[in-house]
Amino acid sequence: MAKRKLILDVDTGTDDAVAVMLAALHPALDLVGCTTVNGNVEVQYCTDNTLRVLDHVGRSDIPVYEGLARPLVRPDFPIPRAVNDLAGQIHGRTLSVPPSGRRKADVGAVEFLIETYRNTTDEITLVPVAPLTNIATALTLYPKLIERVPEIVIMGGGHEVGNITPSAEFNIWGDPEAASIVFAAKFRKITMVPLDATHRALVSYDDCENLRALGTPAGTAAAEFIGHRIQAHDAIQRMAVAGTTPVHDAVCVGYLVDPAIITTRRHRVAVETSGTLTVGRTVIDTHFRGGGEPQCDVAFDADAGRFIALLLETFGKSPRHLAECHYE
Ligand code: RIB
Ligand code: CA
Repeated sequence: MAKRKLILDVDTGTDDAVAVMLAALHPALDLVGCTTVNGNVEVQYCTDNTLRVLDHVGRSDIPVYEGLARPLVRPDFPIPRAVNDLAGQIHGRTLSVPPSGRRKADVGAVEFLIETYRNTTDEITLVPVAPLTNIATALTLYPKLIERVPEIVIMGGGHEVGNITPSAEFNIWGDPEAASIVFAAKFRKITMVPLDATHRALVSYDDCENLRALGTPAGTAAAEFIGHRIQAHDAIQRMAVAGTTPVHDAVCVGYLVDPAIITTRRHRVAVETSGTLTVGRTVIDTHFRGGGEPQCDVAFDADAGRFIALLLETFGKSPRHLAECHYE
């Protein structure tokens, strides 16, 4: 069976790192490249962290393209101090894996996205798990992107849940204007994975011990990154179950391999770009009040057991073993 090609747009970040490893190691996926953008940390650290993670799991063949350092409009990045504390505690600036021995690609992220989709005949799924600055810019410069992307899978937004404000989730809040552009674009298929879903795929310390017991670079790194997240969440944003954390971005990659990991409903989604209390909110028309045509498959649930089993299965295989796997 042909591997599913994807591009990950990341602000690496501890959960981005797990997503990158899952995409780089799963035998059913072909990670064409990673693009980085300002978000959890400044973009140059996102780039460095992404290179570190790919090299750590033996995939230094996968290129990393650095993207935009600032949102389209909002003036307050680097992110305000309080948010820095949140990002600082959940992500840190530099991930605890060795430095990479290679450089980022010479081409920038937006140019890579445009040229790849302009010239390919392949179906390449686009998976942004960060503020949507790169994606909105690529869309503006190359509107045909909406026809060339078979599916865009966005980690972002929230209906009952916000994490950076009571109204908003970080990726959307980080560049609301970019998110508004992306959700209004008529992509062939938009799958949205908001906090309502990722907060139902919580990973525990016991799961971290099982990942560490795999004895592989990916298993050990995932245990490290996720354990760090649990500590931070217990300290500043406790989950419904203490001693657990969401691993938001990896749920999007897991969905590509096992669609049953999330449960979706089709709704109209728009993004608030003003309003002191509501900027960055994804307005999900769950009761069809707004009249607009539903354009998103929105995940409102996730299967933690399936998700964690996928992490253990994928991270438990050595790169050689993975190369021999034929995923059905
Ligand atoms: O709100 C969670 C999202 O914001 C994740 O993508 C995390 O990495 C941060 O970017
Ligand atoms: Ca992210």
